[in-house]
Amino acid sequence: MTTKPILILGTYMLAEEMADLISEMPGWRVAGFVENLDRARCRPLLGLPVHWIDDVKELAHDHFAICGISTTHRVAFIEQALAAGLRFPRLVHPTARVSSTTTLDEGVFISGGVQVAAHTNIGKHVFVNRGALIGHHTTIEDYVTIQPGANVAGACHVERCAWISMSAVVLDRKRIGCHSIVGAGAVVTLDVPSHVQVVGVPARVIKENVAGK
Ligand SMILES: CC(C)(COP(=O)(O)OP(=O)(O)OC[C@H]1O[C@@H](n2cnc3c(N)ncnc32)[C@H](O)[C@@H]1OP(=O)(O)O)[C@@H](O)C(=O)NCCC(=O)NCCS
Repeated sequence: MTTKPILILGTYMLAEEMADLISEMPGWRVAGFVENLDRARCRPLLGLPVHWIDDVKELAHDHFAICGISTTHRVAFIEQALAAGLRFPRLVHPTARVSSTTTLDEGVFISGGVQVAAHTNIGKHVFVNRGALIGHHTTIEDYVTIQPGANVAGACHVERCAWISMSAVVLDRKRIGCHSIVGAGAVVTLDVPSHVQVVGVPARVIKENVAGK
């Protein structure tokens, strides 16, 4: 089978984890990594080249890209890659199950063991980590991160750049505001406003003026 070359944005541990997951996705071949902050990190990683962001335009005619960092501040890096001409596919690990009635926007990464139920919409560059569950008729806006084992129920709405930690539970029809953080193991029983951090069971606001994670 022919494989399409893909570059992973980022050079830290998540980028290595994503290379491993992509190696199990038919039709794709990790061709290298991209760095945008520290030129000293442009040395081979996992035996593959690490390109400086300004140099990737030369590869954009046939290379694709996916973001390999989970912080919601990844927006800037993705915009640099888009400006260089790189295109972002939707990547779904073969052990995940995504309903055929669900829409995935460009740059979405669905890791191993994830389940996405019917009639859900997942926005651009959303990262869904191992084993997370997303219910039916739910909306996940652009640049959201959903960490391992989180369980977002049906008819929820997670706004742009929100960050849902591992094993958090979001009850049906709840809304998570933009740039807010839901802590590990929290149970969200009420709507969460924008720009706050909530933790605990039931989840309560412990920080305000939060700008993502
Ligand atoms: C919510 C979270 C982001 C908070 O990080 P933080 O802002 O650095 O918080 P702090 O460590 O300063 O803790 C602030 C307070 O909240 C408490 N707290 C932090 N996380 C908590 C959690 N998940 N549940 C309950 N309490 C929590 C701390 O004990 C501390 O309490 P104290 O003030 O009484 O001592 C972090 O704890 C968390 O849950 N991270 C998730 C990690 C994750 O999902 N990783 C995925 C890896 S693949």
